[in-house]
This record gives sequence, C-alpha cells and structure tokens, in this order.
Amino acid sequence: MSHAEDHAGTRRDFLYYATAGAGAVAAGAAVWPLVNQMNPSADVQALSSIFVDVSGVAVGTQLTVKFLGKPVFIRRRSEAEIEAARATTLDELTIDRLAQNPNKPGADALDQNRTLDEAGEWLVMIGVCTHLGCVPIGDGAGDFGGWFCPCHGSHYDEAGRIRRGPAPRNLDIPLASFVDDSTIRLG
Ligand code: FES
Repeated sequence: MSHAEDHAGTRRDFLYYATAGAGAVAAGAAVWPLVNQMNPSADVQALSSIFVDVSGVAVGTQLTVKFLGKPVFIRRRSEAEIEAARATTLDELTIDRLAQNPNKPGADALDQNRTLDEAGEWLVMIGVCTHLGCVPIGDGAGDFGGWFCPCHGSHYDEAGRIRRGPAPRNLDIPLASFVDDSTIRLG
C-alpha cells in the first residue's frame, strides 16, 4: 500500500477529529520524518523541521501531516486547479492581497507567490482557518474550489486564499522547500 492510499484511509478520521474538538489535531496525521541516524543532533533538528515523502501523492489529492502541532496540507493540484488559481487577479482578492508566504516575504497573493514550485502543482499550507482556528475541509470544498471552514463559513480558493467569510487572512504558508524530486522539507 502506498503512502497516499494509506493516508486516504486515515484522512477522513483525521479531519473528523480535527474539526470535532479543540486541539484534537493529532489523530491520523501521517508524518515521515527522515532522521539521519549518524547525525548526533538529528533529534534536535527534528523538532524544527521534518521531511515529507510526497512520491505517493496523486494529482488532485492532498496529504495532511502534522508539523509543530498543526496540520499542514500538501496538495498536488490538478491542471484545472492551477488554471483557475492562476486566472484569479489581485482585484478579485478583496479580503487579503498578501501571499502570507515566508518563503516569499512581502509578495502579493498571486498564485505563483503561494505555490512551492514554479509550475504551481504543489501547494503547502498550514491547515488552520485564520478566523478562529478550525481545520478547513479540502478537496474542492466551498464556493471557490478550494477549502471550506464550516465553523463560521469561510471559503478559500484553489490557492488557499480567503474569498468569502469572516477569516481575515489567506491560509498561512509554512517555511517549505523541495530537497529532491519527491521530498519536501517543512521548517
Ligand atoms: S474558524 Fe473558520 S470560519 Fe471561523
């Protein structure tokens, strides 16, 4: 069974628990820290960064991992999602026009400033609603093809940008980078 299949089986439970109770975000998170056994400080490094194997993530699906106590969504977007997100102009982003991406400080919220790779296939975001902290539902939920937070009705688009509802800010992006073709480092 691949990571993605394994994950698909647990994701529903994870989202259920994550949205059902405050702080209950630990259940079912699939994390694969790759710790270098020869490195004496590996345990210390593991606290501030993790490495995630994304080789099993199919196009149009996402993986949720737990990082620094929060869920992180790693989505491999479909062509349609990329096209829709890239077609959105800043004028349409009436709530938050900043990328909220520490990998590109101060950048505007155009899609290319939110995605991890230039082609826009990979979107990595902290899965915590910027209103009051619920975990949004993904896979095209909501009115803008991205994520929906059922707590008070915040709609996020294909790039995780807030488009309607009480949330004041786009979904935050963590420090992240590709270390090779199939491994993303968080932190
Ligand atoms: S916590 Fe998400 S809309 Fe309020």
